[in-house]
Amino acid sequence: MDTFYITTPIYYPSDKLHIGHSYTTVAADVMARYKKARGFDVKFLTGTDEHGQKIERKAQEKGVSPKEYVDEIVVWIKDLWKTMDVDYDIFIRTTDKIHEDAVKKIFKKLYDKGEIYKGEYEGWYCTPCETFFTQRQLVDGKCPDCGRDVERIKEEAYFFKLSGYQDRILEHFEKNPDFLSPPSRRNEMISNFLKPGLEDLCVSRTSFTWGIPVDFDPGHVVYVWIDALSNYITALGFLSEDDSEYKKYWPADVHLVGKEIARFHTIIWPAMLMGLEEPLPKQVFAHGWLIIDGGKMSKSKGNVVDPKFLVDRYGVDALRYFLLREVAFGGDGNFSNEALLNRINADLANDLGNLVSRISGLKGPEQTEAPTAPAQEAELAELSLKVISRTEELMDKLLFSDALTEIWVFIKRLNKFAHESEPWKLAKANKGAEFAGVMRVLAEGLRISAVLVSPFMPGSSKAILDRLALPEESRTWESAKRFDIVKSGEVAKGSPIFPRIDVKAELAFLEGQAPKKEEPKQEEKKEEKKEEAPSEQVPGIIAFDDFAKLDLKVGLVTECEKVKGSDKLLKSQVKLGDETRQIVSGIAKWYTPEEMVGKLVVLVANLKPVKLKGQLSEGMLLAAEGKDGTISLVTVDKPVEDGSEVS
Ligand code: ME8
Ligand code: MG
Repeated sequence: MDTFYITTPIYYPSDKLHIGHSYTTVAADVMARYKKARGFDVKFLTGTDEHGQKIERKAQEKGVSPKEYVDEIVVWIKDLWKTMDVDYDIFIRTTDKIHEDAVKKIFKKLYDKGEIYKGEYEGWYCTPCETFFTQRQLVDGKCPDCGRDVERIKEEAYFFKLSGYQDRILEHFEKNPDFLSPPSRRNEMISNFLKPGLEDLCVSRTSFTWGIPVDFDPGHVVYVWIDALSNYITALGFLSEDDSEYKKYWPADVHLVGKEIARFHTIIWPAMLMGLEEPLPKQVFAHGWLIIDGGKMSKSKGNVVDPKFLVDRYGVDALRYFLLREVAFGGDGNFSNEALLNRINADLANDLGNLVSRISGLKGPEQTEAPTAPAQEAELAELSLKVISRTEELMDKLLFSDALTEIWVFIKRLNKFAHESEPWKLAKANKGAEFAGVMRVLAEGLRISAVLVSPFMPGSSKAILDRLALPEESRTWESAKRFDIVKSGEVAKGSPIFPRIDVKAELAFLEGQAPKKEEPKQEEKKEEKKEEAPSEQVPGIIAFDDFAKLDLKVGLVTECEKVKGSDKLLKSQVKLGDETRQIVSGIAKWYTPEEMVGKLVVLVANLKPVKLKGQLSEGMLLAAEGKDGTISLVTVDKPVEDGSEVS
């Protein structure tokens, strides 16, 4: 039997998870269920990433040990996955003994092979905060966290020879176009990270202790990312007494990750595996973010992004459906209550739910003749086969939203058929044979629909199949390819599978749930105005203060398209930390929209917004103009977070 190994990232148990985290895990769960339905021997791994200074600190604040602190959150996370109907096969914790032992061995193995070496880490250190900072992170030469003095420190540390892997990784990217999906992220990795060159990576710390100690030098703990990435193989028993699962399932078929950690998974992780002489994962799929009201989610948005709250209110399947239908997998997508409620009503209550309701409990006249097959039967049977084969193609590419759209083509056609054939009228008119024929086709179609949606909505799928009283063998993916299974078209009565929601009333209710927005505090001007000696006015020279008026920021292009009716303009969505701006620029001759996505650009963030060709532009991208007129965008030399200041 073919195997299929799929993983989610392991989550930081530093806070409770929100709907954005559930997005990755639900997607992996849908994929795992789909592959199981297709007959694969599936392993689905998730877990928690429990080490590091951040967690050590949080535990200290609470006055408990780090282990006690994470234990409690891990219970909560496991309960969340149960609530979300996530059926993982392995839950790895980086505090598991099997993981810790294997990480020590991985570190030692890389050290013995000369891939890890001892060197010196140099930087600024804040003793009260126990934290290293780079020159750039300092604020006025002081600790950015507490404002106290920092000292220049050199300490022994281990380094991984990441620089030595650049060519091999680049080659791997080039030879395996699907290694990182979607393609826009691949370009980002190649041009922003691989081509500019890799630096050796510091892989041990001595400034805190909550981590896996370096076996042969116990004052050092293993860098959290080396620890965390290893989970994908330690969970299968790599370098343990029993590595049979590793042998069977590795290399992974898909690592599902959010886009901000694509770099760790497609550069550092492959380098580690190359160093260990182990095969690389077949694919890393980096999805986009769920954004709420234009910003990344955070706890302050309250209940409305708490997955447990949403499941409680609308049901787990409605939420799972929404997550995978609303957003094209790969891009960013907006989460709003309104979008969720409208989806539930339009697709679930109206299309699928209504189909079930209108044919449930219908009884025809007593009759002994054979059912008459309706004229549309052959067409519906043919459509079902087309839809299934397209759905399979899309699912294999993790294009969940498109797959659902495809399945809904069939569901909508079935609804139309119910409307055309009106079995309730046939029953009243005493047309027993026709009634039975129509109902058989409707029930067959409903059976097929329920099988196709089962990876997405396992509970509702089962509820529908139960109403059709079908045995196990009529619920398999393969059985959906037949149109001659249902004998009696009887659909048992029951309550609506997806009740309609009164959107207006519900939105008003949710509004009441949201935390009250705090009035922004009047920021006190911290800096005292330094008296500056009046400088001589030199024409063309500006004072520093004038320069400081410019708000220059690094932004990440998340979407980009051509402006309709213009061959010069591109319209980009640029993310600056928590906010996203739309920016229109005259660069269409030099950049394609595909090329733009994933780029870190530099923009003037405090320009007065303007409209270009009717499109709002909230800022300006910096670019150089070559002598021949070539436009080249300004970008940053090393990756920094989007939203970073440029000065
Ligand atoms: O990064 N929308 O853990 P994490 C979509 N421990 N996805 C989101 C999201 C949002 N609003 N917020 C978070 C870590 N995620 C590391 C991983 S793997 C060896 C170590 C996704 O808890 C995020 O993109 O911060 C990531 O894929 C996952 O949740 C875990 O994030
Ligand atoms: Mg993160």
